[in-house]
Amino acid sequence: MDLKGRDFLTLCDYTKEEIDYLLNLSARLKAMKRAGKVWQPFTGKNIALIFEKTSTRTRCSFEVAAHDLGMGTTYLDSTGSQIGKKESIEDTAKVLTTMFDGIEYRGFGQERVQQIADAAFVPVWNGLTNEFHPTQLLADMLTIKEKLGELAGKKVVYFGDARYNMGNSWMVASAKMGMHFTACASDEKYFPDEELTAKCSEWAKSSGGSINRSTDISCAEGADVIYTDVWVSMGEPYEKWEERINDLMPYQVNAELMKKAAPHAIFMHCLPSFHDLNTTMAQDLHERFGVEDMEVSDEVFRSEQSVVFEEAENRMHTIKAVIAATLGADPDFN
Ligand code: CP
Ligand code: NVA
Repeated sequence: MDLKGRDFLTLCDYTKEEIDYLLNLSARLKAMKRAGKVWQPFTGKNIALIFEKTSTRTRCSFEVAAHDLGMGTTYLDSTGSQIGKKESIEDTAKVLTTMFDGIEYRGFGQERVQQIADAAFVPVWNGLTNEFHPTQLLADMLTIKEKLGELAGKKVVYFGDARYNMGNSWMVASAKMGMHFTACASDEKYFPDEELTAKCSEWAKSSGGSINRSTDISCAEGADVIYTDVWVSMGEPYEKWEERINDLMPYQVNAELMKKAAPHAIFMHCLPSFHDLNTTMAQDLHERFGVEDMEVSDEVFRSEQSVVFEEAENRMHTIKAVIAATLGADPDFN
């Protein structure tokens, strides 16, 4: 499998075999890290990390992964650099490509990461856009494989706001890998857009998966994976909370809902999550709307079925695999 020089902008651009390779590489790199084995194929190389939106997991994963691989990193955000205000994304990409061996971008529309990829001569990695979050999906799939085995045939039900980066990415991953995906929300404004849904339904025909949508929470019956994400994403107006809470509270993942899933089902969330009142934003929303928890109850979040922190750890191993593969190294060969 040769992925050297490839960008990683959305899983739409990757085949099942390529995704399988990245997941297998991630598992090997994780085992090496656990065994304390150092592998530094990229000593002397450097990568740039652009974050126009905030991050804990993705930034730390890129930094730790790069350092483990022997590379240097430079972090750029929109307050401490010229990006967006005095310099276009295209000019920024042209500058960075002269100094760095790879560029990560987290920010707004998918067209921005595409612009960087068009202007750069080095691999560009999507660290989250409004439309897609492909590195998160690699971590999610690695976690499912570790907990439940093969991906093909697994039933995944995604509750809440499925029309943004996480819902879209889950639909694409399911279509590529043969999983049965259902988006469950109060009405169609929360479902992934028609064009992407049609494309995924076509891919699902050849992978053996399926793409479904439902407004009935009993679609969780027999599910292997219950997934949810925040109801208002980064970059969306704060005023959206009221509408989302009203629409989506009946779709909260709580103990009652988890009972509908298969007994072995796992609960997943990309994080960060509103499951208690231990953040300033949760406190504010509690004062305004009286909510104690939102997309997931605290009980489910902290339950035995919850694998959210294993997912978070897997962000690093899978991002390391993406960097290694697209820069052309594999520990079994290099
Ligand atoms: N899941 C995720 O992308 O987390 P961060 O926003 O902390 O990077
Ligand atoms: N949908 C969320 C995902 C965060 C990892 C957001 O875009 O804020």
